[in-house]
Parts: sequence; structure tokens; C-alpha cells
Amino acid sequence: MSLSLFQTFKLPNGVEYEQPLGLFINNEFVPGKEGKVFDVHDPATAKVVGQVHEATEADIDIAVDAAEAAFYDGPWSKISSAERGRLLTRLADLFEENHLILSSIESFDNGKAIQLAKGDIQASIGCLRYYGGWADKIHGKVIETDKERFAYTKQEPIGVCGQIIPWNFPLLMWAWKIGPAIAAGNTVVLKTAEQTPLGGLYAAKLVKEAGFPPGVINIVSGFGKIAGNAISHHAKIHKIAFTGSTLVGRQILKASAESNLKKVTLELGGKSPNIVFDDADIEKAIEWINFGIFYNGGQTCCAGSRVYVQEGIYDKVVAEFKRRAEANIVGNPFDDATFQGAQVSEAQYNRILNYVEIGKNEGAVVETGGERHGSEGWFIKPTIFSNVTPDMRIMQEEIFGPVCAIAKFKDIDEVVRLGNNSNYGLASGIHTKSLNVALEVSNRLRAGTVWINSYNALHWSLPFGGYGESGIGRELGKEAIRNYTQIKTVSVNLN
Ligand code: NAI
Ligand code: MG
Repeated sequence: MSLSLFQTFKLPNGVEYEQPLGLFINNEFVPGKEGKVFDVHDPATAKVVGQVHEATEADIDIAVDAAEAAFYDGPWSKISSAERGRLLTRLADLFEENHLILSSIESFDNGKAIQLAKGDIQASIGCLRYYGGWADKIHGKVIETDKERFAYTKQEPIGVCGQIIPWNFPLLMWAWKIGPAIAAGNTVVLKTAEQTPLGGLYAAKLVKEAGFPPGVINIVSGFGKIAGNAISHHAKIHKIAFTGSTLVGRQILKASAESNLKKVTLELGGKSPNIVFDDADIEKAIEWINFGIFYNGGQTCCAGSRVYVQEGIYDKVVAEFKRRAEANIVGNPFDDATFQGAQVSEAQYNRILNYVEIGKNEGAVVETGGERHGSEGWFIKPTIFSNVTPDMRIMQEEIFGPVCAIAKFKDIDEVVRLGNNSNYGLASGIHTKSLNVALEVSNRLRAGTVWINSYNALHWSLPFGGYGESGIGRELGKEAIRNYTQIKTVSVNLN
């Protein structure tokens, strides 16, 4: 089947642009070797809106060879750290110039509200620019041993990095992965999620425009079991960074063990507790628990999906949170007022509604929602379950949708025990006016991030990642650079 490499898209908000459809390898858009394509859906209508070329194993080999050639022999091997930084900041500038197109693509491809998509692009720009700043500030140490020796360390890039990203924040995850990898001097083969291939390809066009040499950044569309599997097992890829389900995270780690022991970082699922104490500013706390779970339709790894409320204000918070959730504007992603758009795919839509049934059967009480919104597309009403007990599946498993589980607690010891009653440990929230309570609870929670009197307050300069089954390693901040470099020790005999 032949499909052209570009197509003009006209989006619901009138934005018209040329969408690349091919695989981006060596700075060119090319068809896959097997000539396969796959469908792209609009989550707001459930209709097929186009097709993109699919990468299979042979294409991953070609992309890896391009990345390897660029790393060892190409201009990338000779480039100065300052120039790497300049390329990244130029890419950030191009994201800024294309802000409206990129956010519109994101909203169209993922179904998320345009106001949120605009925020994603803003954060992607910040992230790329931040890592542009890091490029010429990565250095080793001189280490004293004795007078006969001069010893130092170098923080060197790893080589070709495989990067596999999910569909919930397609371009933001693209920036989180590309930024530190490139700042540190690596080359990359990045696979976007099969549900959301469009933004990554448009960003690839900007990579070329920014002036990156061929082979440094390669972007492929394809499926996890085929292209993703080829990346995770590839012998010439020496580092893999993955964001997605814990199930697939385990497979990535196993693939590394079975192939070449490539370094692995994993950013996986979560079931994060969001805790409201009696003394909290209730109005503000309700804003944060609402934002914590319903932001991005609940399709957020750090979603505050378990809400624990202290007994003195429990009934009041449940009643007011219900009112607040019902006021969220759900619907057309391209309406500027919309807060919650469509869920990304039919599979996710069904998965979420299935969890709603599980919750009902387990005996939890549906305070609001629990059903589809509207009559077309993959929309689900903001849903709140109360009377949820610790053993219920809706309290234990990641639902990845607009579904919140609420329970009551008595005191600090009990809520710490409940909060830590999870195999995950990605994030958490604490709402209280007491500094002592906030700090004690934050010290005792087993989570990679604690937000005090806020939620989802991510920033590119703050490390992000999980305890327990939420992952391995940290993204963002200086920590991410560590995950994209390896230390070389050089020891000179002066005698
Ligand atoms: P997934 O983990 O299957 O997909 C994420 C990425 O991994 C995609 O690019 C996919 O193509 C790739 N992938 C899938 N199987 C692979 C394999 N065997 N080898 C290499 N790459 C592979 O997640 P999915 O199925 O889209 O969503 C299922 C659940 O995963 C969600 O309901 C949610 O609970 C969780 N999830 C968590 C995310 C996070 O941000 N931590 C993001 C997406 C999903
Ligand atoms: Mg999957």
C-alpha cells in the first residue's frame, strides 16, 4: 500500500498545516521497509482521520545505524557542548514559533482540552531550553589520591539511546526524553505511542529546521510489540528510557537482561494518595484534589487517584468535591473553556468504564459520574467513588481515567499507613496549614514527589520518578543528565 509522506490537515479550530507521515530517519521522512501504515483516530469523534507509516524491525535497524554513525563518526562526534546546547535552545525557539500548531495537533491526536495542550507545549519549550542550558555544564572531577597519580573523571554520553513514550503527554514526553539525552551528547531513536504519532513527527520537522545533523534524532511511529520490542532488544542501543505501564516496564527490563544489558530507566504507573487534613483550607484543597485527579482526564501517571480525608471534614469535602467535579467542563477539546476532553482510545475508554463496574460490584458508592459523557467520541464523566476500602481494586490499581476513590482517616499514623499501602510510589499530595504535619507526613510517605498544598506541580528543573513499582531512575532536573551519561575514570601515573 502506498501512502504519501505528507498530508494537509485542517483542524477543528481552523489551524491548517502539513503533517509529516513518514518515519524520520537521518533527517528525512521515509516510508517503512515493509510498506505498512496504521490508522490515526480523533478521540473526540472516534473517527479515523489519517494514517502514518509504521516502523518494523528492519526500520529500527536502519534508524539505529543512522544514530550510531552520527554518534561515532558523524559531525555529532566532533560537536562542542556549547553547540549542542545552542541546537536545543533553537529547537525550543521553533516550538515557541509553532506553539499554536503543536498544541492543536496535540489536542486533535490525544483528545485533550486545547487549554491543557497549550500548557503541555509551554512546558515542552521550558524543558528543551533548560536542557539546552545544561549541555555545556556537564563535567567530571579531579580526584586526589596520592602524589604519584593524577586522576580525573569524565561524564561521557552513553551512545545510541532508545526512547519509548506513551500517549498521555505525547510532546511533553518527547521533550523530557530528547532534552537530557541530547544535552549529554547522545543520539536517539524515539518511538512515539501508536495512539498519538502526529506531534512527534511534526516536532521532527523542527529538528531538521533547527540544524541538527542527520541521524542525531530519529523519530519512528509503530507498535510496542514490534518496533518497541526491536528497540528494547537492540544490541547497538546502550540505554533505554521508557514511560508507560508497569507491565511493559518489566518487559523492557527483561529485554535488557536478555540482550546487551543496556542501561534502563523506567517511569511507570502510580496510584498516588492525596491527603486532606481537618485544618486544611477546604476550598483550596478541593480545587487541588479536583485538579489532581481530573487533569488530563485522569490519564496522568501521577494522578491523585486515592483521596484520603480526615474524619472531621469528610462529609463536607465529599459533598463539595462532588459539586466541584460536576462543574468541570467536559467535551469538545477545541473549545477554549473545556477542561476535560476525550479519553485517548476506545481501549482506554472501555478499560475505565470496566473499572467503574468493578468499583460498583465491590460496594463503593458512586457519588457522581460513572458513565459516558455525550453520545459520540470517548468521553467519560468525572467520577467519584466514596466508601472505598483499602482492599478494593479501585483503591489498588491504576485506572488512568477520571475516576477518584475517596476514603476517611482518623490521624497521621493511619493515613501514612493507608498512603503507603500500594506497590506504587510515584507522587502524593498533603493539604494542611500545619508545617509540622506537612513535613512529618512528607517524610513518612514512600513517594518520589510530595506536593504540599498543591498537586501536579511538575517543573522541568525538579527530578521526577518513582519509588517501588513506579519506576527506576529520575527524569527532569540534573538527575536526568546522570541517567544519560556514564563515568569514565582516567588515572595518570606521574612517576
Ligand atoms: P503501554 O505501556 O503498553 O504503552 C506505552 C508505550 O510502550 C507505547 O509507546 C507502546 O507502544 C510501548 N510498548 C507497548 N508494549 C511494548 C513492548 N512489549 N515493548 C516495547 N514497547 C512497548 O501502555 P498502554 O497499553 O497504552 O496503556 C495501558 C496502561 O498503562 C494505562 O491504562 C495506564 O495504566 C498505563 N500507562 C501509564 C503511563 C504513564 O505515564 N506512566 C502512560 C501510558 C499508560
Ligand atoms: Mg499496551
